[in-house]
Amino acid sequence: MTPMKTLPFLRETSGCFLSLLLVASLIHSSSSRALSDSEFAFIARRQLLDLHENDDLTDDYESHVKLNFTFQNSELKSAYIALQAWKRAIYSDPFKTTRSWEGPKVCDYDGVFCASSLNDPKLMVVAGIDLNHADIAGYLPVELGLLTDLALFHINSNRFCGIIPKSFSKLTLLHELDVSNNRFVGPFPRVVISIQSLKFLDIRYNNFEGELPSELFEMELDALFLNNNRFVSNIPETLGSSTASVIVFANNRLSGCIPNSIGKMYNTLNEIVFQNNNLTGCLPMDIGMLGNVTVLDIASNTFNGVLAKTIKGLGKIEELDVSNNMLAGFVSDNVCRLPSLKNFSFSYNYFSGEAESCLPLNRKDIVFDDIGNCIPDRPKQKSAKECQPVVSRPVECSKSKCGGGGGHSPPKPTDDDPYDQSPVKRQRPPPPPKHFPPPVVKPPVHSPPPPVNSPPPPVPSPPPPVHSPPPLVQSPPPPVHYPPPPVHSPPPPRSPPPTPKREVILPPNIGFQYSSPPPPKFPGY
Ligand SMILES: *[C@@H]1O[C@H](CO)[C@@H](O)[C@H](O)[C@H]1NC(C)=O
Ligand SMILES: *[C@@H]1O[C@H](CO)[C@@H](O)[C@H](O)[C@H]1NC(C)=O
Ligand SMILES: *[C@@H]1O[C@H](CO)[C@@H](O)[C@H](O)[C@H]1NC(C)=O
Ligand SMILES: *[C@@H]1O[C@H](CO)[C@@H](O)[C@H](O)[C@H]1NC(C)=O
Repeated sequence: MTPMKTLPFLRETSGCFLSLLLVASLIHSSSSRALSDSEFAFIARRQLLDLHENDDLTDDYESHVKLNFTFQNSELKSAYIALQAWKRAIYSDPFKTTRSWEGPKVCDYDGVFCASSLNDPKLMVVAGIDLNHADIAGYLPVELGLLTDLALFHINSNRFCGIIPKSFSKLTLLHELDVSNNRFVGPFPRVVISIQSLKFLDIRYNNFEGELPSELFEMELDALFLNNNRFVSNIPETLGSSTASVIVFANNRLSGCIPNSIGKMYNTLNEIVFQNNNLTGCLPMDIGMLGNVTVLDIASNTFNGVLAKTIKGLGKIEELDVSNNMLAGFVSDNVCRLPSLKNFSFSYNYFSGEAESCLPLNRKDIVFDDIGNCIPDRPKQKSAKECQPVVSRPVECSKSKCGGGGGHSPPKPTDDDPYDQSPVKRQRPPPPPKHFPPPVVKPPVHSPPPPVNSPPPPVPSPPPPVHSPPPLVQSPPPPVHYPPPPVHSPPPPRSPPPTPKREVILPPNIGFQYSSPPPPKFPGY
């Protein structure tokens, strides 16, 4: 590996040890002098050598461990070995959550939950770990792979660092893996792909980087949270194979288009969030197949082109956010009259017209936001100078690599071009000159005659209403969509709930509903 490649990893990893380093530097110097980069790298490297997180478990691992305790069964003995190794890998435990982790009675440890084994109801095994919000600093030792009866592993909102060890592939009953809001680094933790029982995968708010593996979307997941990492790849073509009802890509650096395969998820998908990435191109026309989707958020990317007619297929959509992109053309009844719509923001794009049904004041029951566009006679629009270059050069989605063509199929015949808005363009009254020089909106040369049953032309917007439009809210969307909806999947294999103990109740079979709330310091996604 070249130094260039190792540096970001080291930097991130050393972040785990920041508190230790600060203490060290305070002890060793009276001033609060910052460590130099090389000192920092040196310490981080030395500490990395101490971490055995990247190793896998050897098969005879347990025979090397001498124990002076008697255990109810060998599963609990393995669990003891794993949990003691984990305790040794913890540097800071401000709430003393692991103080009770002493002795052979692992089922009494705080955050550890036992249940009857699937194979033998009389056998107690460790079925769940829940250390959510414990603020623990440390890493995940390879020995955690000994917890082969785990159905859930929740360590949301701690300061665990390093990587997810390969030995997690031994957790063949694991249903829920939530490592969100920690300090994990490195490439996507591929080991999770080998866990075939996994239904809920939450790795948001970490520092994972690089590409999203295509196999991720071929897992039989119910929910997938990838947001707030540093993923940079395209979204794999396999997206459409995903069985998840919730998928959140927000706040990464993903680029490229949304694969047209997205439409294949129509049976299962409820919420999908692409917000704040570097995604581009036209929206795939098959997005309109997502008849069960209630939340679609593509805000803050650089999508262009028009909203395809197919969007009227979003029959259950409630929250639709396409704001802060480069979308253009006309916002039609196809969108604004969607039957379940509650909140549609198309602000800060280059739309040059909207149907009357989209006007913020016309529908008290729906929030519409149209500011920051190029719509004549509407308040708070872009300047003519800003609009002209984009509005005068419409993107032909049916011919673009993204969206229409999808890169594979030949361009659709023009007479059912879902992106074609030409009837609208022809019939739209010329924009008033006071706004900007008439945009050169040429109907595409290939455009067909308007269909016979074409909708009535949009009526030009009325003068600005006396009331002001809803204020632009730039804060992240409310956490209302989270935690994800209950699983539709069958309960995890180990159905008998463990005896609830102490104040936390975490039965593995309804753990999904319990599943980690979003990290507290970052509302929403
Ligand atoms: C094992 O435990 C017993 C009693 O707790 C103790 O007397 C003995 O020294 C221990 N043996 C070892 C090898 O630790
Ligand atoms: C976003 O993508 C554009 C090209 O599509 C590229 O020039 C730009 O650097 C990217 N930005 C980031 C933050 O990755
Ligand atoms: C919604 O999902 C159900 C199955 O959960 C499926 O049968 C139905 O076709 C979907 N509806 C639409 C409009 O796609
Ligand atoms: C509507 O959606 C926008 C963008 O997603 C959001 O900022 C706003 O808070 C929402 N408004 C309501 C009333 O839900």
